[in-house]
Amino acid sequence: MRILITGADGRLGSALMRTLSERPHQIWGIDANTVDVTDRHAVARVFAEAAPSLVIHCAALTGVDYCAEHPDEALHVNGFGTQVIAQACLEHGATLAYVSTNEVFDGRTYRPYLEYDPPNPINPYGYSKWVGEQAVRELVPRHYIIRTSWLFAHGGRNFIHSILQQARSGGRLRVVVNEVSTPTYCNDLAEAIARLVETGCYGVYHLVNEGQASRFQFAQAALIAAGLGDTPIEPIALAEFQRASRPPEHAVLRNVAAARLGIVLRPWQEALAEFLRVEGLFAL
Ligand SMILES: NC(=O)c1ccc[n+]([C@@H]2O[C@H](COP(=O)([O-])OP(=O)(O)OC[C@H]3O[C@@H](n4cnc5c(N)ncnc54)[C@H](OP(=O)(O)O)[C@@H]3O)[C@@H](O)[C@H]2O)c1
Repeated sequence: MRILITGADGRLGSALMRTLSERPHQIWGIDANTVDVTDRHAVARVFAEAAPSLVIHCAALTGVDYCAEHPDEALHVNGFGTQVIAQACLEHGATLAYVSTNEVFDGRTYRPYLEYDPPNPINPYGYSKWVGEQAVRELVPRHYIIRTSWLFAHGGRNFIHSILQQARSGGRLRVVVNEVSTPTYCNDLAEAIARLVETGCYGVYHLVNEGQASRFQFAQAALIAAGLGDTPIEPIALAEFQRASRPPEHAVLRNVAAARLGIVLRPWQEALAEFLRVEGLFAL
């Protein structure tokens, strides 16, 4: 396949670039410094050059607090930028795989969300990604909508790095107990996406590592695995953690559709251990 990846320098985009380059595909990667996805002329130029048969659209504003403070910009990039990409796919007959989020759900259903449960975003980031989902559904006949959650990746900073850094610097650790989802390793997700897009089975998918955790449990597991298990952590409620965005409380995604195709990610604890091993931080 001729595959165009947007957001190619990001956490997931760079994992996809690595994973897909090892398969018999031709890959093009674009990012904010080369093509702004909201600029339809720039997008048209890259489609004309790459002639992709598949586009994996990862580019997005992913800072949920930034999106809460700049809701119009979030909508412009995540919602209407996706519409630009979807329109280009329609015109070129390309398949579109759109990476979306657990934050399209309100987190008030205390069971894991299935692929066709109705979204009800409660913050500007979730709303902007849900607008993107609808543009994909309406414009592109052959599409995959792939929702995921709590990504961690090599390179750049993430929740694990900041927890370990705070523990090492002797900072006071206060971590939320009632925000629950599934930590997902970008390397595992990239492998799962690579397999999914080769099936030709279009639709909505939840691709996350197996299991679920609160932010508190995730932090505790990372500390123990990194040999910092005696670090005191204070459990706090979401309402005590002042931030611009309000995350959904219990937005756990259940993988039913991809599992039917044999695509299941390993438990998040195993993925975390491998991530720490590769980073040279695993101490057990
Ligand atoms: N991170 C998570 O926990 C998480 C959870 C669920 C779903 N997702 C979804 O998964 C996808 C990948 O996430 P990620 O964590 O890999 O994101 P990321 O690391 O923030 O990467 C996103 C990339 O998109 C680029 N970008 C932003 N605005 C752009 C624009 N207007 N035109 C072109 N490129 C633009 C960014 O460039 P700059 O850095 O230069 O701005 C960045 O390289 C996103 O669609 C996200 O919504 C992420």
